[in-house]
Amino acid sequence: MLSYNGQTPELEQWSFTETSFNPLAQGKCESVMSLGNGYMGLRSATEEAYIGGTRNLFVNGTFNRFDELEVTELPNAADVTQIELLVDGRRFSLETGDTADYERTLNLRDAELTRSFVWRSPDGKRIRFEFRRFVSKDDLHLIGMKLRMTPLDEGITLRLTSGINAQAANSGSQHFHEGEKRIFDKKYLQLVQTTTESKVDFVLSALHRFLIDGHPFEPALQMEIERRKMEMAYRMELKAGQTLELHKLVQVHTSRDADVEAAGDLEKLRAHSLEALKKAESAGYDGLFERHRQAWAEIWSRYRVEIESAHRFDLLALRFAIYHMTVMTPVHDRRMGIGAKGLSGEGYKGHSFWDTEIFILPFFIYSEPSVARTLLEYRYLGLEGARKKAEENGFRGAMYPWEVAWPSDGEVTPVWGAVDVVTGKQTKIWSGFIEQHITADIAYAVWHYYKASGDQRFMDDYGYEMIFDTAVFWASRLEWNEEASRYEINGVIGPDEYKEHVDNNAFTNYMAHFNLLLAIQYYDELKDRDPQLLERLESKLGLERGPQEWREKADAIYLPQPDGRGIIAQDDTYLQKQELDLTPYKSQAKVGTLFQDYSLDQVNEMQVSKQADILMLFYLLENRFAPELKRANYDYYEPKTLHDSSLSFSTHSILASDFDDKKLAYELFRRAAEIDLGPHEHSSDAGIHAASLGGIWQCVVMGFAGIRMLDGALHVHPKMPDAWERLSFPLFWKGTKLQFNVTKERMEISADTQEEIELVIYGKKMSFQGRLQFELMHI
Ligand code: BGC
Repeated sequence: MLSYNGQTPELEQWSFTETSFNPLAQGKCESVMSLGNGYMGLRSATEEAYIGGTRNLFVNGTFNRFDELEVTELPNAADVTQIELLVDGRRFSLETGDTADYERTLNLRDAELTRSFVWRSPDGKRIRFEFRRFVSKDDLHLIGMKLRMTPLDEGITLRLTSGINAQAANSGSQHFHEGEKRIFDKKYLQLVQTTTESKVDFVLSALHRFLIDGHPFEPALQMEIERRKMEMAYRMELKAGQTLELHKLVQVHTSRDADVEAAGDLEKLRAHSLEALKKAESAGYDGLFERHRQAWAEIWSRYRVEIESAHRFDLLALRFAIYHMTVMTPVHDRRMGIGAKGLSGEGYKGHSFWDTEIFILPFFIYSEPSVARTLLEYRYLGLEGARKKAEENGFRGAMYPWEVAWPSDGEVTPVWGAVDVVTGKQTKIWSGFIEQHITADIAYAVWHYYKASGDQRFMDDYGYEMIFDTAVFWASRLEWNEEASRYEINGVIGPDEYKEHVDNNAFTNYMAHFNLLLAIQYYDELKDRDPQLLERLESKLGLERGPQEWREKADAIYLPQPDGRGIIAQDDTYLQKQELDLTPYKSQAKVGTLFQDYSLDQVNEMQVSKQADILMLFYLLENRFAPELKRANYDYYEPKTLHDSSLSFSTHSILASDFDDKKLAYELFRRAAEIDLGPHEHSSDAGIHAASLGGIWQCVVMGFAGIRMLDGALHVHPKMPDAWERLSFPLFWKGTKLQFNVTKERMEISADTQEEIELVIYGKKMSFQGRLQFELMHI
C-alpha cells in the first residue's frame, strides 16, 4: 500500500511511502520508486532478494540484439544492489520474523530512496535497519548506497555479502559475454563485460566502506569470484546499541559514453572508472549525496510548479511526473531517446515511440527547450533508419520506425506479441509494418518546437530536412483511388491499436495532410529567405518533384468529414462495426481483460477502441475542428474506448477541459495520475508509463491552464478544477521564461526580460512587458 501523505511534514507533496511490504507486489515500488539520471536507470528492488523481485540497471543507448529472432533491447546490466545479510547464521528476510515501523519512501525533492524498519529475528532479536540509495544527478556514472543497522537488544553475528552480479538477464536473454572480473587491493571490484552483438563494453567498479558508530572499521573479509559474479563476504560482531554503517559506491561506464574521453579505449576506460571510484570514496555517501541533492535543487527551481488544491495528491502527482521525466531523459546525449517505460523496467525494451514527441516533448518545449531540441536531434539522426525503412517498404523519403532504438537501426518493433485466446498462438504485432502516423507526429513535433521556441538555427540545421523528407514519404505513400478521385492511405493502424489494416484512419490522413502542408509552406518560405539552404536540401533529398507533387497530393487527400450527427468516422469501416457493451471491462483495474474473451481479430470487427484516436487529432490540430464537434465525438467514442493504453486518459482530460467540462477533466486527470501512483498493484510491473507522465503535465498546463500554441501564437484560457485555488508553473515562450500564477480570480504572468510579450488571453491579443495581471472575473 502506498501512502501519499508525506513521510514528514517537510516532505508533504514531495514523497510517497510504502507502509507495508508485500512480496507479491514488488514490481510496483521497484518501478514507481526507480532512480535515474537519464544516463542510467536503476529499478528500486530491495537489497535482500525475494522471489518475484526484478533487479534492473539500464544504461541508455546500449542496445543489443540477443539473436536474429529477437529485436534489439536495452540489456540489463550487472546488479549492484543486492546485499545478503546473515544474522546469527540465518538469512535476513522480511518474510520471516516480525517487522515494525516499515517505510519505504521515494523523496522526489532529493531523488533519494529510503527504507527503514525494526525487524525482530525469528530468535527474537530486534534490529533497526535504514537503507538509502541515489543515482547521482551530479556525476552521471555514480550510484550511492548506504545501510545502517543497529541491534537493539542483544549483540549479533553478521555476515554481509555484497558485490557485482552479472547473472541477470532480460527475461532469460543474456546480452553479455562472461567478461572479466577483478578485485584490486582487496577492496575495489571491477567487472568488464561486452554485449554480444552490438559490442558495447560495460565497466562497473564498486567499493564498500564500513563504519561502526561513525568510526572506520575493517571487518574480516572473504573474496569470492564465480561465474558472472564477484562478491565480498564480510563477517563481524555487533554489540547491542552499536550502529554499523555500510557505504557502497559504484561507477558505471560504457564504451558509448560521450562524456568520457577514455570511452573508446577499454583499458583507459577501466582505469578511468577505478580512478573515479577512488575519488568518490573520499567524499563518501554523504558528500556525494549532497552534490546530487544540490543538482536536484536546481532542477526543481527550474521547474517550480505549485498547486493549491483540496486534494494534496494533485501536486504530488505532477511532481512525480516531472521527477520521472527528468530521470528518464538522456539530456547528455542526442544519440539516445526516451523509452516508453523510461529506464525503469524491461517493458517495451527501452524503445521510443510517438510517446516522446506527442506526450513528453511538450513538457520540455515549454519547460526546458534545450532538452526538447536534443530529443528532436535524436530524431534527426534517426533519419538514417527512417530512410532505410522507407526503401525497404518501397517508398521514398523518411518513414520513421514505429519503435526505435539506436537511431540508425531503423524499425525494431517485435513481430510477435500476446496470446490469441482463440488460436492459442502468439498474435502478430503489425505496428512495425503499418502504424505509420509516427512519421507525421515527428514532423508535427518539429513544427511545435520551432513555433514555441523560435529556434531558427535548429530548423536550418535539422528541422527543414526532417519536414521535407517526411513529406516526400507521404507523397510516395498516398494511394490514388480512381473511382473516388482522391488520395487515400489504406491498410494502416491508427493510434487505436485495436483496429488493424483499416483504410483512411482519419488521424493518419489529417496528420499526413498537415505534414505535406507544412513542407509546402516551409519550401515557399525558404525560397525567399534562404535559397542557398533550399538548394542544398533540394539536391540532398532529390526534391525535383517535391513542392508540386506535395501540392497536388495535399489538395486531393481524403479527409473524412462529420456525418449528419457530427461524427467523424475513425476509419472507413469503424462506424459499421458491431457494438459491444464494455461495462464489465471498463470497471476492471487491469487493462486488456477484453482479450480473455475475444481475440484481436474479433475485436477488430467491433466498435471498441484501445485509446484516444480521433480525439487525439482534435487536440493536435485543434483549430480545424469546432468545439461542438469535439463534444459530439467525445460522447460517441469515449463509451467505446477501454483506455487500455496509458496514453488515453490524459488526452480525454485535455479535451474535456477544452469543452469546459471541468468536473470530467479533473476526474480523468486523476485517472491518468493513478496509472502509476494509484492502488493497482501490478500496473507498473514492467516499468512506469512515460507518455502518461507527460500527459499528466499536459492535463495541468494545456488542460487546466488552457495553454495552447495555435498558428504560432500562445493562447491562454484557464479552466481550473473547482478543487484548485491556485496553480503556478514556468513556461518558456520564444526564449523568454514566463511564470504563470493562476487563481480563480486572477492570473499573473511575469517574464524574465523586459521585452514585449504578446499572448492571446481568452481569445484577445494582449501585450505586456515584465508582468501582466489579469482579473479573470472581468472576462
Ligand atoms: C499504445 C501506443 C504506445 C505504446 C507505447 C501502446 O500500448 O497503444 O500508442 O505508443 O503502447 O507506450
